[in-house]
Amino acid sequence: MNGFHVPKEKAQVVKEYLTEHHLLDKMSLLVKDDNTITFPILSKSNLLKVFPFGTFITARFPSVQKKQTFKEALVALLTPAEQQHKQQHIISGFDVIGDIAIVEIPPELRKKEKKIAQLLLGYAHVKTVVKKGTIHHGTYRVQRMVHLAGKRTMETIYRESGIKVKLNVSKVYFSPRLAEERKRIAALVKPKEKVLVLFSGVGIYPMVIAHNTSASLVYGIELNPIGHKYALINKELNHLQNIEFICGDAGKEIRKLHVRFDRIIMPLPKNAADFLGSALAVAKKGTVVHFYDFFPEKDIPHEPKTRIRQLCRKWKIPCRIITVVKCGQYAPYVSRVCIDFSIG
Ligand SMILES: C[S@@+](CC[C@H](N)C(=O)[O-])C[C@H]1O[C@@H](n2cnc3c(N)ncnc32)[C@H](O)[C@@H]1O
Repeated sequence: MNGFHVPKEKAQVVKEYLTEHHLLDKMSLLVKDDNTITFPILSKSNLLKVFPFGTFITARFPSVQKKQTFKEALVALLTPAEQQHKQQHIISGFDVIGDIAIVEIPPELRKKEKKIAQLLLGYAHVKTVVKKGTIHHGTYRVQRMVHLAGKRTMETIYRESGIKVKLNVSKVYFSPRLAEERKRIAALVKPKEKVLVLFSGVGIYPMVIAHNTSASLVYGIELNPIGHKYALINKELNHLQNIEFICGDAGKEIRKLHVRFDRIIMPLPKNAADFLGSALAVAKKGTVVHFYDFFPEKDIPHEPKTRIRQLCRKWKIPCRIITVVKCGQYAPYVSRVCIDFSIG
């Protein structure tokens, strides 16, 4: 490839001329040593007349590399056998919450986990990479996280639907994958509604609703004291007035409320049924309930509807199923489902 070789002290003026006259080959990188610089050029034009101190040479220039995607970098790191089964698992299993990336590393790739984590630093503003140390467990549904690369912190600020959420990824439950579902619920809230969110975690549902709707009042109840602490911090962080956060057991705390709610949200799959009786005590005719649970794909929407009808029959409450919405994968062939129903 053609190059134009000039003394280092003249390089700046030559570069400006080459750029201005579209003579610089932008797909290649210049080459330099202590005293000279060689520019990759597209044509010789009248360069020697303008810069008689230069010389034309033929040289090899390194090409400009476009930044690899994480997938491309992962392919380069893994052997073909590792790629076959594990690559997709890593790509579909990682989440970014604020500037923390959370990865799921298959046991077979343990030896390469730090290298995989290093690859993630720099993508999508990631400053810290952690791996899931356990599945969601216990009453608080938390996941232990193990630091792999970058800044040593588990606390970050995540943004969604116009709000900021501060949280510690290893001390509270949080899923960015439910952002669309939260937006769906917020879009259903009518002006002046009173909304109750049971199991409110760091306050994400109440805040998305309070910020994006004209609800008159939004209550959140959370048992995990750390989740509650973050909910209070987040209320301040977002300057929200019409929200109240309560720390305690939803079943007990509901009894202290003297409000009839227009909408009740119950994001505690597997156990929400244990609290439906308490929730119905603060409902009224027309209250809409959003009830979350897990169901095998093959049983949706029939089983979720049957389940709600059975539960409401048990509590002798007439109900009308509005819709059944799939909102995420829980396990292979098992989905998280929200059943929206109203009290008749
Ligand atoms: C699946 S998480 C959902 C958290 C939050 N709504 C979100 O979407 O990020 C369930 C939450 O319910 C809380 N929880 C569990 N049992 C509870 C109870 N009896 N009363 C209140 N909160 C409870 C857990 O601590 C956890 O934060």
